[in-house]
Amino acid sequence: RMPILEQCYNLMDFEAVARRVMKKSAWAYYSSGADDEITLRENHSAFHKIWFRPRVLVDVERIDTSTTMLGTKVSMPFYVTATALGKLGNPEGEVVLTRGAKKHNVIQMIPTLASCSFDEIVDAKEGDQVQWLQLYVNKDRAITKRIIEHAEKRGCKGLFITVDAPQLGRREKDMRSKFDDVGSNVQNTGGDNVDRSQGAARAISSFIDPSLSWKDIPWFLSVTNMPIILKGVQRVEDVMRAIAAGVHGVVLSNHGGRQLDTARSGIEILAEVMPELRRMGLDKKIEIYIDGGVRRATDIIKALCLGATGVGIGRPFLYAMSAYGLPGVDRAMQLLKDEMEMNMRLIGCSRVEELGPDMVDTRGLSMH
Ligand code: FNR
Repeated sequence: RMPILEQCYNLMDFEAVARRVMKKSAWAYYSSGADDEITLRENHSAFHKIWFRPRVLVDVERIDTSTTMLGTKVSMPFYVTATALGKLGNPEGEVVLTRGAKKHNVIQMIPTLASCSFDEIVDAKEGDQVQWLQLYVNKDRAITKRIIEHAEKRGCKGLFITVDAPQLGRREKDMRSKFDDVGSNVQNTGGDNVDRSQGAARAISSFIDPSLSWKDIPWFLSVTNMPIILKGVQRVEDVMRAIAAGVHGVVLSNHGGRQLDTARSGIEILAEVMPELRRMGLDKKIEIYIDGGVRRATDIIKALCLGATGVGIGRPFLYAMSAYGLPGVDRAMQLLKDEMEMNMRLIGCSRVEELGPDMVDTRGLSMH
């Protein structure tokens, strides 16, 4: 029998249920990684190479998990990252994530390739709820400019330009399922023809501009007042370039293992990047986020110890939404909150600002 919601005790439990209840092609699209899925597996397991160095005998009666991301105060140091095609998992699509994010006061990043229209997702927000936009850059910059201007007008507080997908990775599980109802599940592609023979991902991504380069960054800065963040940076040299280009942040990410296989995990890259930034006095110049494989609050805490402002979480919320709808997303976020409080207490930090490199032992990472 299928577990009831109250029997989900961690984020992995939602994945197991989603796998059983989702349509095969939808499961293939959400769960797949590129090629041999080595990076996909590494994303989570990389966190296990880091160990805590807890402090004892500090007052941890009160725990405050709140922090600030791009000027927005949030209740926990994670955000719902952009994942395309929300209606594959739930007939209501991304607005379910909007409501879950509202309930827990965290930020939702809206994907360019959402199933709901951009305006539906913005209309679903309440009060002073904050959303960001993930941008795939169209070959036709007039379309891209319209999307950016519209997002700013509708109140988006951050523009995350995806830079790790000049071509979509080969996700073989997805390709094998010969996805056939793409058209009804995606908006905003700019009206390109859809080739259905290559799986969902490739079918909807042909508009993405592979010629996008550093030369284009000043243009983005000139057309918007939203902070600009590059999503998918993989090396310290490119973080330096991002700082020099004047953007406001980077996400150290390999796109959830869906693009370049055997790319390193975000947490591994973070451990390389932060000491270098500190050495050059640049660590306050830019906000650094990571995503990929975050499944436990201990993963989040480790990223913060190493210097991340926050982390993105993708698949777990998709699975929670696919398995149980809004109550699932709500419970997944509540589980993370409970884990956050307990684990911060156990390592002896009552506030996020107290998390630093001294709280972790990173000697197991490959940088050593
Ligand atoms: C993604 N991701 C993604 N990223 C992006 O910039 N644009 C997109 O359209 C998508 N779409 C998408 C769909 C699905 C089904 C997944 C699983 C992921 C990548 C996403 O933003 C993020 O980098 C990863 O999902 C993080 O890894 P986890 O949390 O899924 O392990």
